[in-house]
Amino acid sequence: TGKHIPTEKGMDHSLALLREGFRFVPNRLQRFDTDIFETRMMGGKKVVCISGKEAAELFYDNELFKRQGAAPKRIKESLFGVGGVQGMDGEAHRHRKHMFMELMTRESLKKIAAICREKWKQQATEWATKDSIELFPEVEKIMCRTACEWVGVPLWAKDLEVRTKDLSAMIDAFGATGPRHWKGRVARNRAEKWIRDIVERVRSGELHVEETKPLSIIAWHQDLDGNLLDKQTAAVEILNLLRPIVAIARFVTFGALALYDFPATKEKVREDDGNYTKWFVQEVRRYYPFGPFTGALAAKDIDWQGHQIKKDTLVILDIYGTNHKPELWSEPNRFKPERFEEWNGSPFDFIPQGGGDYDKGHRCAGEWLTVELMQTSLSFLTQELSYEVPPQDLSYSMARIPTHPSSNFIMKNITLQ
Ligand code: HEM
Repeated sequence: TGKHIPTEKGMDHSLALLREGFRFVPNRLQRFDTDIFETRMMGGKKVVCISGKEAAELFYDNELFKRQGAAPKRIKESLFGVGGVQGMDGEAHRHRKHMFMELMTRESLKKIAAICREKWKQQATEWATKDSIELFPEVEKIMCRTACEWVGVPLWAKDLEVRTKDLSAMIDAFGATGPRHWKGRVARNRAEKWIRDIVERVRSGELHVEETKPLSIIAWHQDLDGNLLDKQTAAVEILNLLRPIVAIARFVTFGALALYDFPATKEKVREDDGNYTKWFVQEVRRYYPFGPFTGALAAKDIDWQGHQIKKDTLVILDIYGTNHKPELWSEPNRFKPERFEEWNGSPFDFIPQGGGDYDKGHRCAGEWLTVELMQTSLSFLTQELSYEVPPQDLSYSMARIPTHPSSNFIMKNITLQ
């Protein structure tokens, strides 16, 4: 009974996802002319995909969806880790999420922005001595140093390269099979060991860390029963800060691309009138592909607009497609920062880092931090540096999840203003 959910024929469409990447979900929504369809993936498992503002409202109803058991093993081995906040539900989730949200005060964000600015200065001083640099891996290093200092994790200069590469490889493994997935797993294992040892040294008193630092807060966090997190879980949660801060480098690189591809915006970011950089950053997060979708399991039988979704079905919310929906965004494929002047701030139509409520739901804990560091970075790029962009392949694959400009955004003749 109920309305038929358009269903893609065939036993398993995992390969199509690998081939089509960011276009997988939107392609099928268009084909079926709908906001909901069913397909099969991961060895024939039923998956229901939903898209749009109403879909996001449904998806972020805590009564209807749960996260425990939702993420595929492959994702936990590389991107998320095991035992972290992403896979928790109910009271336990709220308590753990509170630990993250407490780190995101205005004061704390100001602190990390100041650290980030300092790291940009140091790194850019080095660039000025070189013929050219690739922006993407350089910003990853800036973000790695920023993240470690803000969190309170000691980082030796000789380790900068390997720690940055490992944090980056975990992100890069998201939509991967084969070597890229394995690289992510190796990286996660090495990084977890690094952080487990640090947690142990904090707890034994061997490593002193200010008690306001995220490292101290997580190392001494008590669960609902008053127990400390086991070392491994603490490491997973500390990496849930370090890894995504490094991920901000992708958005910054796309921001640099936008400044180049839409030159009229560059002057406006440089001469920021108080709002423009914020709108620009929002538009970068809407326009460019980063997170394709997120998933949860139906906690009970659900009726959505007459469609029946059975309990325990894996439901995927279309992030990329929702941010490009013509009903929500006029001329969705035009880069237009000014559109954010009129945006009403809905928690369900602009969802590059998830939607709904930060404290009660699974919306990204680091969204404000991301916006803050993107603003810091793009202001620095436009106000403190001059550079040229030589001919190169700036295209980015829509099949690869996650993606970035092929050339990594090469800059030359860099001078500090
Ligand atoms: C969750 C995207 C940066 C920490 C998420 C989710 C997405 C996302 C899509 C899942 C939402 C859901 O499943 O409902 C991004 C993107 C980022 C970014 C594209 C850009 C770089 C950050 C940063 C931090 C962070 C900088 C921390 C400093 C988290 C945490 C969660 C999360 C802890 C899990 C929240 C929960 O399960 O309750 N993010 N994020 N993220 N993000 Fe981010």
